Amino acid sequence: MLLSSCSSGCKCGSSCLNKPFQNRPVKKLKLVKTEKCGSGIVADEDIEQGEFVIEYVGEVIDDKTCEERLWNMKHRGETNFYLCEINRDMVIDATYKGNKSRYINHSCCPNTEMQKWIIDGETRIGIFATRDIRKGEHLTYDYQFVQFGADQDCHCGADRCRRKLGVRPTKPKMSSDAALKLVAYQVASSSQK
Ligand SMILES: C[S@@+](CC[C@H](N)C(=O)[O-])C[C@H]1O[C@@H](n2cnc3c(N)ncnc32)[C@H](O)[C@@H]1O
Ligand SMILES: [Zn+2]
Ligand SMILES: [Zn+2]
Repeated sequence: MLLSSCSSGCKCGSSCLNKPFQNRPVKKLKLVKTEKCGSGIVADEDIEQGEFVIEYVGEVIDDKTCEERLWNMKHRGETNFYLCEINRDMVIDATYKGNKSRYINHSCCPNTEMQKWIIDGETRIGIFATRDIRKGEHLTYDYQFVQFGADQDCHCGADRCRRKLGVRPTKPKMSSDAALKLVAYQVASSSQK
């Protein structure tokens, strides 16, 4: 789903509530070592459901460059992948340049999600809380549209773990009517904050 942010010059003035990336401070996050998933991120403050956590940033590369990099990574025996697909021909690669978001691990029962937003004509990826998160909890999202390294075993520990990273969850297909209602709800609830 592609969400649309107000542009920097919108007419809403300083009260604009439709700029999740610009107007909301990044949450305090701490880099930690996990038992089974390498490095990971824990919340260093309470986060409320729906709140913007951090932007997923990195180098924006095309499919061809992505393929070359994946090939090189495979040769080097890399096991950590920091790639996020924006659309069919664009990938954000946080391998060499990125922020703390690159350390957020996958869970089959996550507490955040990636959302794609159009801001001033650019597609950007934000990580948002899908439930209330207490200080000290591990942050996770579902790597469902990060298909790289999909054959890796998942160690998220969730009851209904899908056992592999990158396996898409089986969701009942949403009708366009239901999808529209969801957008309307998200717009309404974001303007209440
Ligand atoms: C975006 S990085 C996350 C940070 C990474 N743990 C690190 O130490 O830099 C993604 C990589 O972390 C590991 N990882 C993330 N979630 C995992 C999980 N649920 N089970 C096993 N490995 C996981 C995999 O190696 C994956 O390619
Ligand atoms: Zn606005
Ligand atoms: Zn899992």
